[in-house]
Amino acid sequence: MNYIGSKQKIFKELSAYFPKHDIYIEPFLGGGSVFLLKDLAKYNILNDINGEVFDYFTIIKSKKYDLLKEIDELIVHESLFKYYKNKERTRFENAMYFILKNTFTYLGAGDTLKITNWDIQSIKEKTKEEISIFYEKLQNAIILNKDFREFLKNITIRNKNDYKRIFIYCDPPYLESTNKYTENWKHTDLIELLNILKDYQKKGTNFIVSEHENEKIIDIAKDYNLNVYEIKKVNSMNKKINKEIILTNLNKVNKLF
Ligand SMILES: C[S@@+](CC[C@H](N)C(=O)[O-])C[C@H]1O[C@@H](n2cnc3c(N)ncnc32)[C@H](O)[C@@H]1O
Repeated sequence: MNYIGSKQKIFKELSAYFPKHDIYIEPFLGGGSVFLLKDLAKYNILNDINGEVFDYFTIIKSKKYDLLKEIDELIVHESLFKYYKNKERTRFENAMYFILKNTFTYLGAGDTLKITNWDIQSIKEKTKEEISIFYEKLQNAIILNKDFREFLKNITIRNKNDYKRIFIYCDPPYLESTNKYTENWKHTDLIELLNILKDYQKKGTNFIVSEHENEKIIDIAKDYNLNVYEIKKVNSMNKKINKEIILTNLNKVNKLF
């Protein structure tokens, strides 16, 4: 799946920074590439504000076999995207539409079939494999569909020692980037996220936030006394080289500053 902003390609470098943990919290799940590829924690609490993300994962959890059968029977064609796009969808159809858009269309926009996707059968097989792995992993997970503020503030941890067993990985939309879901992600959102994460930190929790390097982010990281590490240089859609970085309360060598 090619969900926009997916961390699949940088997972190896990124996950090298993940600390040991028993409780994994991911407030911006997206296409789930990090949850898919990382070692499964004992408890997993996942979230995304996007209803299609929520439907995709809950349908995998509750109707895996129906979903796999539907994928097998799919005749992939542009008219299918239009069919799903324009109809009032059930949750199951939402999950199917999510798969179709993010697997077969440009930038997950749901309009045009990617011409690079000739081998539809092998893409279907890969998608089914991914779904089967998610299915297994989701047995140890709960998934919610909330704004990150409501999500993170309402997680109940009964024993205060358990905060030390938590790791929170955040992959919000990049600050001031523009694409279909980031228009509402503002500077104030990032600040509110860091304030909440700092409250967790006071109780012993480690966290990582993914971002692209830019001056504003570095200033914010300094204000919040966070470490910044470069993960990888990546080519963005407009052919600019971006540095994929993380902001974290964890300590490692090779800090950017
Ligand atoms: C960069 S994507 C995550 C990509 C994911 N790491 C992956 O590999 O597929 C950011 C996600 O944040 C979600 N999001 C945006 N604003 C949010 C908010 N206020 N609360 C929770 N989730 C939000 C979007 O729906 C999107 O799925």
